[in-house]
Amino acid sequence: MPADLKPAAPVQLRHGSNAGQPQTRRDGLLKVTGRATYAADNHLEGMLYAVTAVSRIARGRVTSLDVDAAKAHAAVVEVLTPENCPRLAHDPDVKMPYFGFRIEVLQNDNVRYVNQPIALVIAETLEAAIEGAALLNPQYAEEPARTGLDNGEHFAAAAVGVGGPPRTAHGDIDRGFAAAKHVTEADYVTPAQYHNAMEPHAVVAQWDGDHLTLDMPNQALVLSCAGYAAYFGIPRENVLIRSPFLGGGFGSKAIINGPQILAIIAARMMKRPVKLALSRSQMYGPVGHRGQTWQKLRIGTDADGRLTALQHSTISATSSFDEFLESASNASLPLYDSPAIVSEHVGVRLDIGTPGPMRAPGEASGSAALEAAIDVAADACGMDPLEFRLKNYAETEPGTGRPFSSKALRECYTKGAKTFGWAARPLKPRQMRDDNGLLVGWGVGTAVFHCPHFPTAARATLRADGTALIETAGADMGQGAWTALAQIGAEALGLDPSKVEISIGVSSLPDGGVAGGSGHTASAGMSLHSAGKDAISQLTDIAVADPESPLFGAGNIGVVARDGRLYRSDDDNRGESYANILARAGRADVVGTAKAMRDPAIAEKHALFSHGAVFAEVKVDPDLGQVRVTRMVGAFAAGRIINPQLVRSQYFGGMIWGISFALLEEAITDKRTGRIMNADFAEYHVPVNADVPSLEAILIPESDPYLPLGVKGVGEIGITGTVGAIANAIWHATGVRARRFPIRIEDLVGGLLSVDVP
Ligand code: MOS
Repeated sequence: MPADLKPAAPVQLRHGSNAGQPQTRRDGLLKVTGRATYAADNHLEGMLYAVTAVSRIARGRVTSLDVDAAKAHAAVVEVLTPENCPRLAHDPDVKMPYFGFRIEVLQNDNVRYVNQPIALVIAETLEAAIEGAALLNPQYAEEPARTGLDNGEHFAAAAVGVGGPPRTAHGDIDRGFAAAKHVTEADYVTPAQYHNAMEPHAVVAQWDGDHLTLDMPNQALVLSCAGYAAYFGIPRENVLIRSPFLGGGFGSKAIINGPQILAIIAARMMKRPVKLALSRSQMYGPVGHRGQTWQKLRIGTDADGRLTALQHSTISATSSFDEFLESASNASLPLYDSPAIVSEHVGVRLDIGTPGPMRAPGEASGSAALEAAIDVAADACGMDPLEFRLKNYAETEPGTGRPFSSKALRECYTKGAKTFGWAARPLKPRQMRDDNGLLVGWGVGTAVFHCPHFPTAARATLRADGTALIETAGADMGQGAWTALAQIGAEALGLDPSKVEISIGVSSLPDGGVAGGSGHTASAGMSLHSAGKDAISQLTDIAVADPESPLFGAGNIGVVARDGRLYRSDDDNRGESYANILARAGRADVVGTAKAMRDPAIAEKHALFSHGAVFAEVKVDPDLGQVRVTRMVGAFAAGRIINPQLVRSQYFGGMIWGISFALLEEAITDKRTGRIMNADFAEYHVPVNADVPSLEAILIPESDPYLPLGVKGVGEIGITGTVGAIANAIWHATGVRARRFPIRIEDLVGGLLSVDVP
């Protein structure tokens, strides 16, 4: 790793010394001073620039491209089209195992969505490549675009999410509805949302013989190497990915996409390094998105307000050529105690880029609908929505009866409600106004996310100077892996984190697994911790066998590693420093290694989820329907917290994305052409500071007794309860139940007029 790609020298730490402490980001100083090097910041000797020309139609064929015009440009050196693009060693229409998607890489002239790459212009300068792409003047044989959830071919899903079953049923759903006193039914539409990371996808590709080096933001380094190697027919060890910093990922940077492959093809053809960076608008297609859903909720309740049946059915949009489906209905499986639950999914094929995982895939969309519908059911029972949720609290996993490995959701509800002031909430809607006459409403939503785990490996080197280096090919896309993983390694090594250097973000390091699924800290942390323990155990072997050590012969008694020293576990005064032990042994270091994977039996025997409760206050203008979120409190229980400062920041990020989902974010497609009309940051709305109110994130203490290090996961849960909480607060303010996201002024205005103002 070049020196300028190293993380900052450990920054001044504000508190304490170990895991569980709120330390500032190690990479923070580099980032705020502009010294963190992102993929597109790399300028290699002799580097060329590549720009994709993209399709303006959603379905059909490219019939002509004016390659001569582009090549006539003085600085354009080559134009790749299906006519001259080399074939790949692996058919891009055959999916790779694990997170594999079908991709378009100029292997034929088919167009399957707007913004699909249809040519690649390679030039000496970025400007020339852009101009060359503009000269291609593509002509098409166009077929009608299939757009909109109601306008595509339905198909039975073989799987949802990353391989889950499309249908899960517990109990007798018909009997459940027959036994109900109230049956509420509601459907909800959630929009297509696109990965608008601050850093658009970019790659600098460089070949040296049959060795490939890639500077790119990547959430799954070692896994990706295998994929790139397969596409290019080279051994996996020949691929090196450097991804020290990512400007956001959200799931899209865990997946190999077409433009990246084209840049690599270009670099191989031209025998020069090639840089390709997608423009903002080019992100709307080839790099995944959160797919549209149309969800129907049917909820049966008895006279006491207990659930008798819960049915969640989702139609999820996917592309014409791949299968990824939002597993939205599965949000209804783990939360509420009902004798009968059905979660089911159907796919619909549209002429769009394939959707993929995007922060809380499935749960974000699914919990939005579920939590809004649960509120409707509570109202039908005349109950306070929090009381209703507590009444239907699942003590064990609904349907399976498996115990939760840990579940402090009740504490989340209680603490969150108290902090928010929920007890003062009037039951009926439209009861509260502020001093300016704005309608005020309060809503609650439950947050849930599962706890996946990836196999990982790590190395921990304890050096003679008393410092350590810990290494794993993990990825920090902003969540704080540089810092939190170092804290875990430091804990295992019995060192202050300021003495521990960490390397991540390079694929030649031991496999750090995937930074995704909210599982990175638990997964990479597990092997870092084991590698640290391995180093300490080697050091212990040296010490206890050394007659000059105060630890001599302590083998059976055991030792404790603390503050850079080993102590006899029965005597706090008998110990010595790591440096002394290594120096006397004439060793420069000891190197601990580990490969780790959570015992699969844990997930078989237990239901593994992080939980939370989000409370939101909104104010709505009764005449204009304008909504402002004015206050939010989230309380989350997500296992052991390694760094509360970073975790709070994760929760804020999730809650802010929840505001986005509820009120702002939507890719709008022109149904006639399949074009996304707001593929830019001017009209694709995300929250700005003025949209974000006072936020509070409460960390409910929890340490999971079954999971490695007690850690669950925090990355995705923040968004899951927030959307429903805001929708429910809007109802409480206005009496209007919104049925599509984002909730728009026009959805409220009609309802506002038709409801009597008290
Ligand atoms: Mo996430 S959608 O697992 O990066």
